[in-house]
Amino acid sequence: MNKITVVSPANIAFIKYWGMKDKDLVLPNNDSYSMNLSHCVTEIVMERYENPEIKEVFIQEYTSNDYKKDNGQATEKVCVFYNRVKNFLGIKDDYGFRIYSKNSFPKKAGIASSASFFSGLALTFVTGFEKKLDTKQLSIVARLSGSGSASRSIPDGFVHWHKGTDSNSSFSESCAPPEHWELCDVVLIVSQTEKKVGSQEGHEGAWSSPLYAERLSGIEERVESVRKAIETKDVVQLGTTIEADTISMHAVMMTQKHPLFYWSHKTLSLLKKICVLRREGLPCYYTIDAGENVHVIVEKKQVKELVSYFARQGEVLDIILNSPCVGARQI
Ligand code: DP6
Repeated sequence: MNKITVVSPANIAFIKYWGMKDKDLVLPNNDSYSMNLSHCVTEIVMERYENPEIKEVFIQEYTSNDYKKDNGQATEKVCVFYNRVKNFLGIKDDYGFRIYSKNSFPKKAGIASSASFFSGLALTFVTGFEKKLDTKQLSIVARLSGSGSASRSIPDGFVHWHKGTDSNSSFSESCAPPEHWELCDVVLIVSQTEKKVGSQEGHEGAWSSPLYAERLSGIEERVESVRKAIETKDVVQLGTTIEADTISMHAVMMTQKHPLFYWSHKTLSLLKKICVLRREGLPCYYTIDAGENVHVIVEKKQVKELVSYFARQGEVLDIILNSPCVGARQI
């Protein structure tokens, strides 16, 4: 038995991935941009065995101190992904594993826990097969987990996922290293309840929304706006664009054939407070993934003031302060 340990971050999407053109290859309908989150990470320890019969997964919940053996659901997904990695690498021999996974943040609550988990697992499995891939290839492997956003947790810092036209051209790359910009993502936790409908099911309904074509028609402009805002460290341009993209994605979600309302009244209340703070002169901007928790994007020079304000708000159970960080790493 040998041991492999990997740490991988979640990421917050500045331009969101919603809807895909190929479910098997996980090819998105649009490019997306993100930033890796320093304090929302998954640690994966894999014990690797010669005996391929051993395939077990143990998960430590955010609120617990112990690993619990998974009831089968996660293990099944992990095994499907293991086989995809094996096929991608063109390897015939199998190995066995016990995976121990723990998160520094609540899972399935709009903080990209599958991105951190599957990006970490991609690096873990590839290393388990005694292979090394470059960042581009590893981001493709992570994408093939089914959690497309996992591809964005492989490169460092600020990341661009190219939608591509086929599996090899749909990959993620860093557009700026973590130290490029002292930008923070302040995650306001309003609930740790796991969402009922996951993104992967949600993506399939995107085209059933009358607003989806409209979303896609404006997205290239927003992609370019975010690219430029990161390059020039323009928080007003970045913030204005990410808020527009958030609203556009949630409008699609809410108007799908089976509407998805990820927001709660607390989410909306916090959005309004962010807008008030901004009007009062604090440049902070919201973004929300598939969950009710709110991400606030703000430059480091204003983060203290922002955190001290939100720590006093009744909706907020907990705050996770993130800066940009490197992607998945073996430690
Ligand atoms: C709303 O299919 O990558 O977060 O179900 O968490 O694996 P998981 O997500 P994925 O979809 C991400 C959807 C999103 C937007 C984004 O991160 O781009």
